[in-house]
Amino acid sequence: MREEKIRLAAGWLKNSKHTAAFTGAGISVESGVPPFRGENGLWNKYDPMVLEIDRFRADPTGSWKIIREIFYDYFRDARPNRAHEVLALMEQRGFLSAVITQNIDNLHQEAGSRKVYEYHGNARELICTRCGQIYDPVKIGLDHLPPRCPRDKEVLKPNFIFFGEPIPEEAAAMASHEAATAEIFLVIGSTGEVMPACMVPRMAKQRGATIIEINPEETLFTHHITDLHLKGKAGDVLNRLAVELFNGTDDASM
Ligand code: APR
Repeated sequence: MREEKIRLAAGWLKNSKHTAAFTGAGISVESGVPPFRGENGLWNKYDPMVLEIDRFRADPTGSWKIIREIFYDYFRDARPNRAHEVLALMEQRGFLSAVITQNIDNLHQEAGSRKVYEYHGNARELICTRCGQIYDPVKIGLDHLPPRCPRDKEVLKPNFIFFGEPIPEEAAAMASHEAATAEIFLVIGSTGEVMPACMVPRMAKQRGATIIEINPEETLFTHHITDLHLKGKAGDVLNRLAVELFNGTDDASM
């Protein structure tokens, strides 16, 4: 991708009074976390219905076996990559107000981002399906499935939303607020296929935001709402944006 597109995006970002980022599974691919769709997509290997709430309730042990493999074995060693790092630096330096993420891997927070709205929840917590108490999966342990609440022995589920569950209220409200107020939306690593998450950048566009998309592929956003498509991997594109935004400081390109 040509340098002038990076420079154009950096100029827009420098002049923006309120920029938000909307991230999908693609931003974590360079951390070793497989995406759900496309090349090496998890849904090519696993049945997405394993994340369907009625299926989980009917067969918690069967669902947990696959959930543990996907979200705890795979994710365990994942660390933030340069893309997560640059978004955290952009927030610290006033170029970014918040991240709305579909991801449940906690990597934005581990990279230092403070305002992160988790549209699909977070795998780093377990919640009791009866009393709602939150637990740390490391402390509870996942050797015996399904994990059970120490208080009432009820099944614990990961605190991310399953197909058929509502979006967490606070994340939904804050995402709508960002879509209504942001001048620029950075849309990073998402196919734009998953409802209702994919409506957030569309809402932003309707409200007049400029959409800058970072993705090596074209998506359902590209020919409908994207104003500038920075075609490439999130780590590489954001690293080059950092050079333009932080021009020569120690936060610039590593
Ligand atoms: N940098 C940026 N984008 C990338 C990279 C990369 N290195 N590698 C892949 N991508 C892009 C792909 O081109 C694709 O557009 O990331 C996207 C991954 O697609 P999905 O896994 O479908 O991610 P997303 O659209 O965010 O949907 C994820 O689906 O099953 C639900 O709830 C689940 O939150 C999850 C959602």
